[in-house]
Amino acid sequence: MSSSFPHLMQPGRIGSMALKNRIFMTAMGDNLAEEDGMCGARTRAYYAARAKGGAAMLTVGSVSVGYPVGSNCQWQVALSGDRHIPSIKGVADVVHEHGAKLALQLHFGGLVAMTDMKEGRPVWCPSVPLPPKPGDVMDGFLLEEIAQADFANVKEVSFKVMTAQDAEHLIQMFADAAARAKEAGADGVELHGGHGYIFSSFISPASNRRTDEYGGPLENRARLLIDAVKAVRSQVGQDYPVWCKIDEEEFGKEGGITLEEAKGLAKLLQSAGVDAITASSYADQSQGKYHSGSNIPHEPELMIPGAIAIKSVLDVPVITSGRIEPEAADKYIGEGKFDFVAMGRKLLADPDLPNKLKAGKPQDVRPCIYCYACVSQIYFSKNVKCAVNPETAFERERAIEPAVGRKHVVVIGGGPGGMESARRLALKGHKVTLLEQSDRLGGTIQFASIAYAPNERILNWLKRQVAALSIDVRLKTSATPELLKVLDPDEIVVATGAIRTMPPIPGGDRANVFSGDDMRRLVLGENLDTLKGKTSWTTRIAAKAGSLTGVTRSPELIREATKAWMPLGDKIVIIGGELVGVELAEFLAERGRKVTVVDEAPRLGAGLHIVRRWRALSEARDLGVVLLPGMNDIAIGDDRVTFTDADGQNHVVEADNVIVAKGATGNLALADSLTAAGFKVHTVGDCNGVGYIEGAMADAADVAVAI
Ligand SMILES: Cc1cc2nc3c(=O)[nH]c(=O)nc-3n(C[C@H](O)[C@H](O)[C@H](O)COP(=O)(O)O)c2cc1C
Repeated sequence: MSSSFPHLMQPGRIGSMALKNRIFMTAMGDNLAEEDGMCGARTRAYYAARAKGGAAMLTVGSVSVGYPVGSNCQWQVALSGDRHIPSIKGVADVVHEHGAKLALQLHFGGLVAMTDMKEGRPVWCPSVPLPPKPGDVMDGFLLEEIAQADFANVKEVSFKVMTAQDAEHLIQMFADAAARAKEAGADGVELHGGHGYIFSSFISPASNRRTDEYGGPLENRARLLIDAVKAVRSQVGQDYPVWCKIDEEEFGKEGGITLEEAKGLAKLLQSAGVDAITASSYADQSQGKYHSGSNIPHEPELMIPGAIAIKSVLDVPVITSGRIEPEAADKYIGEGKFDFVAMGRKLLADPDLPNKLKAGKPQDVRPCIYCYACVSQIYFSKNVKCAVNPETAFERERAIEPAVGRKHVVVIGGGPGGMESARRLALKGHKVTLLEQSDRLGGTIQFASIAYAPNERILNWLKRQVAALSIDVRLKTSATPELLKVLDPDEIVVATGAIRTMPPIPGGDRANVFSGDDMRRLVLGENLDTLKGKTSWTTRIAAKAGSLTGVTRSPELIREATKAWMPLGDKIVIIGGELVGVELAEFLAERGRKVTVVDEAPRLGAGLHIVRRWRALSEARDLGVVLLPGMNDIAIGDDRVTFTDADGQNHVVEADNVIVAKGATGNLALADSLTAAGFKVHTVGDCNGVGYIEGAMADAADVAVAI
């Protein structure tokens, strides 16, 4: 079969392991295990879906070799005893059934072993760590999250500075786990030598201050990992694939691992007998932004330069990750810059990505929107999930199964919840009519795509999928009782979104104040007449022209056009600092506006997942946005907003325009009236209460199962 990704689709090899293509699923701790680190049906279904999707090899992330000792989370997969062999064998069997290989990433937490901290055990380390640099990690959590976070149960942290005997014990744990992996039918093991865990805490000069044979020069700091590789090798034999994941760099960490050291380490590991190197990175974790600036990067291709540098000193293959698009992976692999791409978030969003590429249908791949829902779960000991793919970790519950009897379903509302419902119902075999009041599909996600560009990927994907299915899409069509009577549906899905009312803020009716709906109309060029009192006729004409020329139909074009012109003054105050307010602040600041965000809430960024929130707040600050949570008596005056702080001090901020980014609530009025009229009604998305894209997609999946 011809393929548009010839290099990604070519077979490869790691040691003795033959691989059908160059796409792996990278190690991701999924926290899907049951009691005692055991994999059950849920884990098997999660891996089976990804094996079926066509990846050559899947890696079970962070498999604990000492469970519960040294583990990050109670729900981590374990291989610390022979009792775990059948549990891993179950996963290996389902993965093999679908023609993929299975690797296990062997892991021991060390300094970041949260379970040890929670259960009062000392954490294993090379040296007692220096106090962390003051950072913003804690400030990123909402107050209610702090109580739920993993660290809430940590009373005191104590340290076990490892002796040579402890080192021997640790190495034996890895060797034993590798032997069990082989016995369980796993096809190879990756030793986790990065991300602040035990081996990298020894390798990094920032955390290793020893003066014995484990400290000082790289050869000494790498000794623990090198000895573990040798011990594993002697347990599993020459032919069993063994490799290491290492940090190519520790970004922003004073005295941390550098690329030169990583190259040296990779050479030492090659000499010790590894079959490959996985090039990753790490960072200073006291600075929240770095979580998405290192091993789970926001910057596309962040780790590629380091991977290329490491490959240049090795003979064994190099695997790398980090927001690498298939086109880029294909190019780099074709050029011999690295050998395998290990995808994480992309395979949470769409397990079938490899098969879709192979079939020449990259446009059908459901895209990750970099919302960090997946990894933020880790901070709360919760299992992996995906905002755009509600089936992730719910493979059995939310699978699209053929409908038993074909029904006619009318979906009302063409936002993400409506489109996803329509798509799923059509795939089940139902007859679907999708009614959208405005002249285009997208709903709130259009506006969300302007403020945060990655959202546009899922908007466009949903539109493409709806267009490709036989769904009767009716734009500019209201769901009137008359129409519904004519359509005579068996069931109705209401996905009409939230209602946005102007909260009672003094001065909220002034001409320089825009509500969320006003902004939406202005930017999307919809219902401009309602803005008469607030905008000049020239502005409305410009917005209308944008709408007619199609500019306002494309979030990407709007993002570009608004860099040159926007009908807003220089100084803008946003009242409301949840997801919409924070993303809007960043968008406006990037367009040269001086922005202040003020809210009564004690912490900003509710609605964003912690890892994304860290980044969004930090980027907003970097752009000069003034963030003012915990303010009272907010009022809008002439060219200004006034408020008081927690100490009762009065503040005044000048404002050419004020944007009120709050006041959205669920709205079940239509659903209730249709139910009263005798229809069988389901509700999806923000009409149930604001749940953003994630809530809409999850509701759509559940409703599609129910119909
Ligand atoms: C939910 C989640 C969990 C992760 N857990 C691990 C882990 O257990 N071990 C590891 O080495 N990397 C872990 N990572 C990092 C990934 O292996 C990978 O390096 C990163 O996601 C970048 O690749 P991507 O852009 O394709 O997602 C995790 C990433 C995610 C998103």
